[in-house]
Formats: sequence, structure tokens, C-alpha cells
Amino acid sequence: METSLATQIGDLKLANPTMLAAGILGYTGLSMKTVIDAGAGAVVTKTMGLEPRKGYLNPTVVQTDCGLLNAMGLPNPGIHHFKSEMGKLKKTKAPTIVSIYGFSANEYAQVARKAQTIGADAVELNVSCPHVEKAGAQIGSDPQLLSEIVEVVADNVTIPVIVKLTPNVTNITEIAKVSQNAGADAITAINTLKAMAIDTETGRPILANKFGGLSGPAIKPIALRCVYDIYNAVDIPVIGCGGISNWQDAVQFIQAGASALQIGTAVAFQGLDVFSKITKGVEKYLKSKGFSNIKELVGYAHQF
Ligand code: FUM
Repeated sequence: METSLATQIGDLKLANPTMLAAGILGYTGLSMKTVIDAGAGAVVTKTMGLEPRKGYLNPTVVQTDCGLLNAMGLPNPGIHHFKSEMGKLKKTKAPTIVSIYGFSANEYAQVARKAQTIGADAVELNVSCPHVEKAGAQIGSDPQLLSEIVEVVADNVTIPVIVKLTPNVTNITEIAKVSQNAGADAITAINTLKAMAIDTETGRPILANKFGGLSGPAIKPIALRCVYDIYNAVDIPVIGCGGISNWQDAVQFIQAGASALQIGTAVAFQGLDVFSKITKGVEKYLKSKGFSNIKELVGYAHQF
């Protein structure tokens, strides 16, 4: 029996459920092409804004016992300078999702429109970066502002609009519902958790920005719970993200309700093979359990 790994996020068709998460290897067309060639079902770019932005001074990344802590500060060339990189992805066999941010609804709309013009197959709204003033999580934890931004973006593009949520809120399901009601086509759960590291000897916070976002295995159980709760609360697809490192993690996220999976920190730790390892593992699992289709496994854990 043929097992299908194909999945769908709004109108976006993926040959398999794995995606490159925003923030890693998403700056250039060439690096994203390499990820697609390694087997990713889709790629998400580094978050792009309206204007070029340098980001924070170093150190911007610290390895912790159980993951990575980063505070890059949303460095990017500006969406208008990203056209040539997007051009390199034209003939690839997997969709490109452009992650975007802004400081107002109008800025989000402008960036989203430009992203669509330069070839984005979908936009992912970063309303969840935990440490940039007046952007990211400050928007994603304000239901009214979030609703306005999602609505304006959805009105300005014809491609799917995905909203990437922050776990740094009291009730993530309420934020997911607000996103759906404002016109989101899918939810990505979750972005990083606000965290910090201090050097024992000097007593100084290690990151130049002091605070950053924690990703990797440490946050997996939190992300899994968020996906489970959001799946119950909305009717749009959920994309799982947060510490997915092997096929077992992937299966658990699908059982919790994820229709697709974003992988970031595991790429840094394991290299590009992680995509094919996860895809093969999920396929083998589906076959061994008698599922003909990945869709049959989405939300499986909710029957118990
Ligand atoms: O610092 C950064 O650029 C991180 C962005 C994010 O967490 O979304």
C-alpha cells in the first residue's frame, strides 16, 4: 500500500510535512535551495521587514544545555532587496514562505504585498519574536492589534497568511482564535520562549541584548501542548514548531494536531539530513501502524 506524506496548508501543497523554520538558513536563495534539495517540504525565509535592519551586536547566539538561545534582533536586507534571492527559488519543487514583520498594520501589509510580488507562496506573520520593542510578541500578545494586522494583511494578498504565535502569553488558544477570526489561513505554534543566560565568572548576561528566545528540545513539551490546545480551538491547519529533532517528535506533533512541522534548531545541531531522516521515520511509522495517509494521523491523540 502506498503511504502519502503529502499535506496541505490552506492552498499550499507540500510533498511532505517538514519545513525549514524561519531564522536559520533562510537569508539566501542558495541556502534555501540546498534545504529543499535535502528533502524539506517547504522553506520559511528569515523574517523580512520594510527597511534593511542590522540587528543586535554580538553575541547573538548562546548554546544552552538543552537548546539554543538567540537574540539576533531581526537583521534583514529589507523585502525590496530580497527579490534576487527569491528569484533563485523559482524552479524549486517546494513552496517558499516569506516570514515578515513590521511596526504597524500598514507596514505588515506593504511587506506582505511585496513578498507576494517577488514570488512568495505564502507569508508567515512573525508576531512572536520575544525581544524586539514594538514588534513581534508585543503585537502577538495584543489581541486587538493582532486582529487588525492579520485582517489588513489578508485583505492585501491572495496567497495564504500564516500567523506564528508566541508562547509568552497567558492563553495561546485565545490568540489563535483571534488570528483565525481575522482571516489567518493557518497557525504556526510556537516561536521561542523569552529566556536569558548569565556568565558565572563575570556575572554578565551573555547575549548583547541580555534577553533572547530559547529554542530546541527544552521547549518541545511546551510546543506540543500548545499545538494540542490550538488544534481543539480552531478550524484552520496548525504547523508545529519547537524542538522537533527526530521522527518520534514529528509523529507526536502530528498526533497533537499538526498538519506540518517546522524544524530549526535541529538543523543547526544535526545538519540537513534531519529532513530526510524525519520524513523516512514518519513514513515507516505510518506504514507500520496501517495508515495510508498522514492526514489520518493529524489530531489522533485527541480521541483519548
Ligand atoms: O532575533 C531574531 O531575529 C529572532 C526572531 C524571532 O525569534 O522571531
